[in-house]
Amino acid sequence: MALSPGWRVFASFPMNHYVVLWKAVRSSGFLLFPWGHCPWRGTGSLLDPKMKAFLEENTEVTSSGSLTPEIQLRLLTPRCKFWWERADLWPLRDPYWAIYWPGGQALSRYLLDNPDVVRGKSVLDIGSGCGATAIAAKMSGAFRILANDIDPIAGMAITLNCELNQLNPFPILIKNILDLEQDKWDLVVLGDMFYDEDLADSLLQWLKNCFETHRTQVLIGDPGRPQFSGHSIQHQLHKVAEYSLPEPTRQDNNGLTTSTVWQFQP
Ligand SMILES: C[S@@+](CC[C@H](N)C(=O)[O-])C[C@H]1O[C@@H](n2cnc3c(N)ncnc32)[C@H](O)[C@@H]1O
Repeated sequence: MALSPGWRVFASFPMNHYVVLWKAVRSSGFLLFPWGHCPWRGTGSLLDPKMKAFLEENTEVTSSGSLTPEIQLRLLTPRCKFWWERADLWPLRDPYWAIYWPGGQALSRYLLDNPDVVRGKSVLDIGSGCGATAIAAKMSGAFRILANDIDPIAGMAITLNCELNQLNPFPILIKNILDLEQDKWDLVVLGDMFYDEDLADSLLQWLKNCFETHRTQVLIGDPGRPQFSGHSIQHQLHKVAEYSLPEPTRQDNNGLTTSTVWQFQP
């Protein structure tokens, strides 16, 4: 999967203060509840002021060029310094959270256009990245939301993006939950998570268990990545909606033109 021009290759990161900060965040707990009380882990904001300043300085607030102009996001755009910089100058791990991926765009568009799918329901967004799909679920009236990612910086970006859209905060879980027992969720959403074969295998197993244990509804947004269209999960999908991608998203995604929402039906 291609990231933006200046930083396609993220081989290693210099051990500077941002990396140190990131490690501090990671070791401090796995659930971010940015505006106060965290029901699982006590109190306190994990949105470090220095990291917040770094994210604000190196991203742009935008709502254009995606399928969901009603959602504002802090993203890495051509007007940001690091869009053009050498990849190895970026001081953090790969900033997947700084891109609004086409799979997530389709899924978010679908939730905004079909609020009945989420209204009053509990929703888990796995691999939330910038948080747009969780935000769309919140805007459409989900009762309970958990945004999950393995990258603590994604947790901070989601926090900032909630703020931008004037939303009450929802919990953010920074942890790989794919080898854990499933909690009960009405709906699990996954935007552009099938970009790696091993990850796709783990997701399929986890989603199967989720469906068998709790009859959870699962929606997947994907723009036709080979790791998804060539995976055995294809036999267990039902197409729900397909969207034509806006020109800027096409340009950033090497020729992808559409993105589809699938329901997982094992
Ligand atoms: C391609 S991005 C998609 C982000 C967002 N869903 C979207 O569509 O814009 C994939 C995200 O999955 C996260 N991720 C990768 N493996 C994960 C795992 N095992 N559990 C949770 N998140 C994971 C990455 O950190 C990244 O933010």
